[in-house]
Amino acid sequence: MPTLFDPVRLGALDLPNRIIMAPMTRSRALPDGVPQPYVADYYAQRASAGLILSEAIYVSHMAKGYVRTPGLVTPDHIAGWRKVTDAVHAKGGLIFAQLYHTGRVALPDWLPGAAAPVAPSALKLNGQNKTDDGPKDYVTPRALETGEVSGVAGEFATAARNARSAGFDGVEIHAASGYLIQQFLDPTINTRTDAYGGSIENRARFLLEVVAQVSATIGADRTGIKLSPRIKFNDVQEPDAEAMYPYLAKALDGCGLAYVHGAKQGGYDIHPAFRAAYKGMYLAGAGFTAETGGEMLNWGSANAIVFGKPFLANPDLVRRFREGLSLADADPKTIYWGGEQGFVDYPAAS
Ligand SMILES: Cc1cc2nc3c(=O)[nH]c(=O)nc-3n(C[C@H](O)[C@H](O)[C@H](O)COP(=O)(O)O)c2cc1C
Repeated sequence: MPTLFDPVRLGALDLPNRIIMAPMTRSRALPDGVPQPYVADYYAQRASAGLILSEAIYVSHMAKGYVRTPGLVTPDHIAGWRKVTDAVHAKGGLIFAQLYHTGRVALPDWLPGAAAPVAPSALKLNGQNKTDDGPKDYVTPRALETGEVSGVAGEFATAARNARSAGFDGVEIHAASGYLIQQFLDPTINTRTDAYGGSIENRARFLLEVVAQVSATIGADRTGIKLSPRIKFNDVQEPDAEAMYPYLAKALDGCGLAYVHGAKQGGYDIHPAFRAAYKGMYLAGAGFTAETGGEMLNWGSANAIVFGKPFLANPDLVRRFREGLSLADADPKTIYWGGEQGFVDYPAAS
């Protein structure tokens, strides 16, 4: 059975090892969504990962959900990300862009014309989002018209094309964390009565349309998808996850994707469900150590392991795992704030 340090082929890519860097929002973009120049250094420092999954990147101006997050919409965005992908490739690394639409998580503050955010249904998220003027209550979103939904799926495809123009090796569709795609999956958030609501097939339709449109645009073999059933975030409940995710495993099985990335972050264990029903490459994430990740590979329960928090303060995580070196802890104060501090200044092990 393979170890973390064995190569693996994911779709069109040959990875040198099975240690994947998780997508992690770090909020280091300019107000217009262009990544700061030093973002290239941050990712290049982590280029020894088998594959880097970028922080979540918004697919359209209506998709932006947080301050200082980056986009892949404008020529300036593409040029900004080109510096990042060039820096990663110069170090021999591979990088996918994680693409998302935040749906009802967005505040009008960031949306064109201070519009209401869009979502499957006009149901407000509880709580507050952080702005530079302090926390603000979420707002009631506008329910997308039936005729608009395919166009929103098309925004993912356009952003995927932009990602390839920016030099990314592929994209990961973000169908996790209670953002727009997962908002469609969850019947407590999606109360539609049209072809996108009600039955499991209908609630999964938007996700599968995004997969189809992105795959048709850049190739399924450069497209992955992340799922996090029942994650305790953004009011996700998914009472029928036990039926929805096996359905998705079967539906995605025929799509020829580079991989499915499952994060176990709630009260539903996606790993056995996908391993049983999904024959393609499966990446297991959330809560793994070198030891438990190695065990997953050894059991044949996943083809590669995704590590998030361990990569924050350990740019040379692959080497530290290989040599059994100790791991540094990240400073929680600078995870989402601090510019270069707490971002590009974590040293490699001596
Ligand atoms: C600082 C931070 C930011 C994150 N941002 C994202 C994100 O942009 N997209 C995403 O899919 N998950 C995001 N996550 C979740 C991680 O990708 C991962 O699933 C989670 O941290 C669990 O893995 P771990 O235990 O190895 O950290 C984030 C996690 C952290 C710690």
